[in-house]
Amino acid sequence: MNTDNLIGVAYLIATLLFIIGLKRFNSPATARSGNFLSSAGMFIAIIATLYDQKIINYQTIAIGIVIGSVIGALMSRTIRMTAMPQLVAIFNGLGGGASSIVAASEFTRLYTKSSIEPAVSFSIMFGTLIGLVTLSGSVVAFLKLQGILRGQPITFPLQKSVSTVLFIVILAAIVYLIQSSFMPLYLALVIACLLLGLLLVIPIGGADMPVVISLLNSYSGIAAAAAGFILGNVMLIVAGALVGAAGIILTQIMIKAMNRSLANVMFGAFGASDQSITADISSNSKPIRQTTAQDAAVMLAYARSAIFVPGYGLAVSQAQHQLKELGTLMDQRGVSVKYAIHPVAGRMPGHMNVLLAEAEVSYDKLFDLEQINDEFSNTDVVLVIGANDVVNPDARDNSTSPLYGMPILEVDLAQQVLVLKRSLNPGFAGIDNELFYKSNTSMLFGDAKASLGTLIEEIKQA
Ligand code: TAP
Repeated sequence: MNTDNLIGVAYLIATLLFIIGLKRFNSPATARSGNFLSSAGMFIAIIATLYDQKIINYQTIAIGIVIGSVIGALMSRTIRMTAMPQLVAIFNGLGGGASSIVAASEFTRLYTKSSIEPAVSFSIMFGTLIGLVTLSGSVVAFLKLQGILRGQPITFPLQKSVSTVLFIVILAAIVYLIQSSFMPLYLALVIACLLLGLLLVIPIGGADMPVVISLLNSYSGIAAAAAGFILGNVMLIVAGALVGAAGIILTQIMIKAMNRSLANVMFGAFGASDQSITADISSNSKPIRQTTAQDAAVMLAYARSAIFVPGYGLAVSQAQHQLKELGTLMDQRGVSVKYAIHPVAGRMPGHMNVLLAEAEVSYDKLFDLEQINDEFSNTDVVLVIGANDVVNPDARDNSTSPLYGMPILEVDLAQQVLVLKRSLNPGFAGIDNELFYKSNTSMLFGDAKASLGTLIEEIKQA
């Protein structure tokens, strides 16, 4: 077998591993092995590419691999789960940036030639556009999530019109550049694309960033596929297309689970950041039932069945280990304990699954919204830990609510609901939650980790 064929076979194996790996991300039980298989695919793809005859300098590649591996290993060890969206934003930005560097270097190499093949020229321009929009958009997303830039939507008059005009100018420049290479215009295009990415992301609220990041993830895949066309590398085209498709599917799942549209996320300037949520519900006159840790512990310890519903507050207080301990304790007392996971609970896809996996909660105890919603009405007690919007009955009952139509976990149908949070403050959507005022709901105020700790001690003595 000659080298080209060998590389082709290796690419095919890598592609299969990517696809099987992606498929295994479907369930928390198989996600780890999916990660391993995809990484193995990437390793094979890199090794095969290094055999490519066109590579003339291994030194720089080796330096890049060493630096990248060290940074990657350090990050994977030190990054906090709540900072994962920022990390993905950085990855997307680097992916888009790398693809645009490929495009720019090919343009620089080829532009003095009398004619560049139109297909290559188109790929260069397309890669430049998508890669740079992804780069600058991801930088803004990172700065917003990290709190360096204001999380609230940043808007100015005629913003959409300015972006539209800029986009049209970029398209015109691309059409010109495909026909005749002109370096000054290409440089202007680079600046315009960076500006477009910035303008597209600054009007989006910090709390909507996970959707934007997922979309930018898809863009970074498309940019990589364009780089694959430029270099004539099949592996890059396939890997880029997979990332592009996976990113767009994930975006779709997220907006569906929030009952939003992509246009609403991109142009709706919806949802202020977490920090900006200051709705004063403390002055709310509606009665609530506040409980004590002792009473709550009795309710949990003597139930026959319980469902735990974790939300963003669990991630904030890092209470997953205490939750697992409470579940185990109740299990030992003969209570049937399940965990209900809403698709957009927390602030990133799979947020709750990852936290609970970290605490080693058994996967067969985790249930999706569709799997568990019918069970709430037959459940003695539901424990809501720092979840808010995803359990708001207004999304089902009140057609005037901004949440109306969003699928929720119907916890209010259970016999008793116990809510652990620090106050009556709203969640991400910034709106009041009818659940807190229902006659079968009891509120236990406090940090989730501290409250769970007290509940554990009380149950041990019950
Ligand atoms: P939220 O509705 O955001 O509510 C979280 C609650 O946690 C808050 O009401 C807060 O109340 C409580 N909390 C915060 N820190 C706490 C602590 N230390 N201890 C106890 N409680 C604490 O969360 P959710 O129900 O998980 O819903 C997620 C929201 O994010 C949805 O609206 C969803 O659309 C949105 N979103 C999700 C995603 C993804 S992919 N997951 C992406 C974009 C947007 P207190 O301040 O009173 O404690």
